Amino acid sequence: MRVTIFGTGYVGLVTGTCLAEVGHDVVCVDIDAAKVEGLNNGIIPIYEPGLEPMVKANHAAGRLNFTTDAARAIQHGNTIFIAVGTPPDEDGSADLKYVLAVARTIGQNLSRPAVIVDKSTVPVGTADKVRAVIAAELAARGENIEFDVASNPEFLKEGDAVNDCMRPDRIVIGAGNPASIEQLKRLYAPFNRNHERIVAMDVRSAELTKYAANAMLATKISFMNEMANIAERVGADIEHVRHGIGSDPRIGYSFIYPGAGYGGSCFPKDVQALERTARQHGYVAQILEAVEAVNGRQKHRLFELMMDHYEGDLAGKTVAVWGLAFKPNTDDMREASSRTLLARLWEAGARVRAYDPEARDEARRIFGERDDLLLCDTARQALEGAHALAVVTEWKQFRSPDFNRLEATLADKVIFDGRNLYEPHEVEQSGLAYYGIGRGR
Ligand code: UGA
Repeated sequence: MRVTIFGTGYVGLVTGTCLAEVGHDVVCVDIDAAKVEGLNNGIIPIYEPGLEPMVKANHAAGRLNFTTDAARAIQHGNTIFIAVGTPPDEDGSADLKYVLAVARTIGQNLSRPAVIVDKSTVPVGTADKVRAVIAAELAARGENIEFDVASNPEFLKEGDAVNDCMRPDRIVIGAGNPASIEQLKRLYAPFNRNHERIVAMDVRSAELTKYAANAMLATKISFMNEMANIAERVGADIEHVRHGIGSDPRIGYSFIYPGAGYGGSCFPKDVQALERTARQHGYVAQILEAVEAVNGRQKHRLFELMMDHYEGDLAGKTVAVWGLAFKPNTDDMREASSRTLLARLWEAGARVRAYDPEARDEARRIFGERDDLLLCDTARQALEGAHALAVVTEWKQFRSPDFNRLEATLADKVIFDGRNLYEPHEVEQSGLAYYGIGRGR
């Protein structure tokens, strides 16, 4: 089938590549000419495991093309995805200017029937807005071309996006017109093997499904962080509690890891946007407000543990920081907890030696050159001359360090573990002091 995708960010690029991989003929459009040229030459703008060889192979096979020519791309596809960004507006609601600009372009260039699909995470009601914009443009041209607007939210996780896309646990399709649902079912048939993964519904339910999923996951994390804060105060270990509750299948083990707070481009933005949507409809979403507030506070937790240990004086200390990305297997630092920690450390007069396997360039872009930050090439280099170690991102390579070596290297012999990667007893046996999240014992 012929597919057009607007936006070559995470969602658009991964979706387009996976659709090409199963044999569809895909054209991706982006307004960023440099990005498009790069992609046509095999340069992938993001770090995502497995993506690069797939882009190159499908591009070479002629099934995946990149262009800035929106008009021609619209002629190409009978399924046209909108996968452009929806950054938060000043008040936290999703800014639809890019989505609606694409809708206008589609309305100005559509020449035959098509299903337009909202893939970006957009507030409930957006499909109706997209429909109205396209209809107005068609009317201005005196055209009466048949089109439908469907919602097909994505559930990709950064760092695992290709896998999530190739082996989805569900494919949510929201459309009012049964023919649109059929068209999207055909498109996704290669991904719908072994058991039924397609969940068809009306457009608004599909739009809300996406927000509800992210809000639920964010709620699990904030809930566990709240339990961790209680555990600390009552002398319990949240890691025992996590095992104790996760074994109940109604609760489950996944997404109940306490830590230094959630980050990324999705949870913070989507929780806020859903809260605003609710408010616009006259409802105060108290759980969502609390989820956000707990997370905002949690991002300071690691720093607070340090301040307690150092009795309020971190001036002149050098802290080794392992992990800058908001989670492992990505170079993305949007809303990352590391940013809060670094800002607080600098404010307190400390210096930072940081190491992240992928986010070094991103960190340089964000922080620029500063005297109180050294971006290191290895985890070991970050430790040189440091007083303490703070672990912020749970990259696999940080999981089993040589604690004896750490003890010999860290001047103040202390570890602050923002992801509860280590066993306190094991660390302490090496003569190091250990602080984790929610591990009051
Ligand atoms: C999230 C969702 O997991 C995807 O299903 C969704 O498609 C995506 O948002 C989106 O809306 O596009 P992502 O932002 O890539 O994916 O990251 P996650 O793996 O969900 O992690 C989010 C944050 O939560 C990270 O900072 C992570 O460290 C934190 N986290 C996760 C915890 O603190 N505890 C946990 O138990 C799990």
